[in-house]
Amino acid sequence: MSKGISQIIFLALPVTLCIVSSGCGLIQRNHSIGAVDRPEYAYLALTPPMGWNSWNIFAKDINEVNIKAAADAMVASGMRDAGYQYLVLDDAWMAAERDENGALQADPNKFPRGMKDIGDYIHSKGLKFGIYEDRAYRTCQSLPGSFEHEQIDMATFASWGVDYIKMDSCSAEHNGRLSSEDYAIYRHYIEETGRPMVLSISDFGNAAWVWGGKETSQLWRTGWDIRSWMDSVYNCADCSGGSHRSHPAFNGLWQFAGPGYWNDPDMLQVGNIKIEDDAVRVSANKAHFGLWCILAAPLMAGNDLPHMTDTVRDILTAPEVIAVNQDPRGVQGYKVFVDDKLEVYNKPLADGTTAILLLNKGREQADITVTWEMIGLSGKQAVRDLWERKNLGIFEGSFTAKALGEHGNMMLRIGKKGKPLPTAAPVPLEKYTITRQGVTSLSDLYYAWKNYNAPVYNRTFEGTPIIIDGKTFEKGFGCKSKAAFMFAGTERGDRLMGTVALDESYQGDNEGRFRIFHEDYFANRVLWDSGQMTKDSPAKAFDIELADYNCLMLTFDGRNIKDGKRANDVLGVFGDVRVIATD
Ligand code: GLA
Repeated sequence: MSKGISQIIFLALPVTLCIVSSGCGLIQRNHSIGAVDRPEYAYLALTPPMGWNSWNIFAKDINEVNIKAAADAMVASGMRDAGYQYLVLDDAWMAAERDENGALQADPNKFPRGMKDIGDYIHSKGLKFGIYEDRAYRTCQSLPGSFEHEQIDMATFASWGVDYIKMDSCSAEHNGRLSSEDYAIYRHYIEETGRPMVLSISDFGNAAWVWGGKETSQLWRTGWDIRSWMDSVYNCADCSGGSHRSHPAFNGLWQFAGPGYWNDPDMLQVGNIKIEDDAVRVSANKAHFGLWCILAAPLMAGNDLPHMTDTVRDILTAPEVIAVNQDPRGVQGYKVFVDDKLEVYNKPLADGTTAILLLNKGREQADITVTWEMIGLSGKQAVRDLWERKNLGIFEGSFTAKALGEHGNMMLRIGKKGKPLPTAAPVPLEKYTITRQGVTSLSDLYYAWKNYNAPVYNRTFEGTPIIIDGKTFEKGFGCKSKAAFMFAGTERGDRLMGTVALDESYQGDNEGRFRIFHEDYFANRVLWDSGQMTKDSPAKAFDIELADYNCLMLTFDGRNIKDGKRANDVLGVFGDVRVIATD
């Protein structure tokens, strides 16, 4: 992010619906918003799901008593009436063994009356019942996972009255299945039960927006697990709303979400944040909640409901802030201004007004201004404070939030009712996937997902020209230590070609390995593997047939030759990586 004042240019273009086609074989294709052939499950979450999940506050310590108390508190506190409907039991509800028929069963000590009883209790409170599983043999807590029990588990959940499934991915790399294949299998068996169930992809942010998560599921994680401190909260928010997980050109993942499918920066820690100073803690909780609302993120509370303070309850149930999150237009907000720690987000709403979050992530007190130019407005505009539920008056050209302290923020609604305002322009398909016949250099496209170090385009990681065996490559990628980056799925392309070598400037003894995967690493479907290469290894060229491929993931792994661990100094280059599409 630039240190100087920078304004992300607002392009007043008409809203263009951007449909990422997904290429994985098992799932139905071309279901897009507005298309007549959308399956019924595409309508399960037309606004971001709201509820409560046990993990952030109880971790493994869930039982009949604290879950029923949470259900009671959801009603008594007004959370249910504010829109929170799913009560989700996370990991560690199940017994260590399946029953004699291979069905999952409740941990007999924690839930002596079984899961149907819990489900009935949750339903009796006017709430919906959510449950956790994992798509591998074992869950993250080493309890029975659903791998090879997909059909029976979905049927068991339906028989218990489950309405929402969080399907995790710990150990799923042993399944031998692509993520898109796995989640399509669960959707298939959910549909077979005849019971509508939301499917929540929990995969630590492994690119569901790229490989087609919306074809089967209603929400997908965009990053690692959230913790109860603000660095983690901001980090998770930037996985959905910044460039932590996608190329900076996307300005967050906003264009990949919409009514029916949502980017999930993880569950809320509102009420769990530990900050001594009362005023700063309140600001932090509001900043966290405001970010999730402007980002159209699922709102899954994770605090101790029976014991929450009035202040926390008021934040979690703030009606006008929640209304921004639940706006039926379903635009995910995006940044329109960044100046180091100061940010302005914009979320154009269905009624013609727009929601704005002004946020100070720094420690120094600061003023933050939103200009009408940043958000596609002009002249005089009405401004309303959504936390205070108060009209602030009519302002010309801009509005400034004065003296915002640490985590200080304002949530505003600006403008008049009428025709919906345009959003920013989404990145067109041809900028991040192969749309044309002939040769497309991958370094002419934006990667749509990355992990570890971002690759450097058309240069080495050190910024020098890419030279392999004395030949200069105009195009390609420079990588350092560890990098993984993915280009979005397309059915175009017959061959993928390129050359790899360790960077000629690298004189160390460590090794580097280049691999190209079909979609993500979960299936371990490696299309090409350079093997370990040293500075003395000759360059290696690849020429891969791309029949039936989906997303392409390129990886570089630097390895310490002595202990096999990650090596931070190794530099690698991909030269002229290109896809050839003959028709
Ligand atoms: C993973 C998930 C968490 C939680 C735990 C439970 O880490 O990302 O949200 O479900 O597993 O074990």
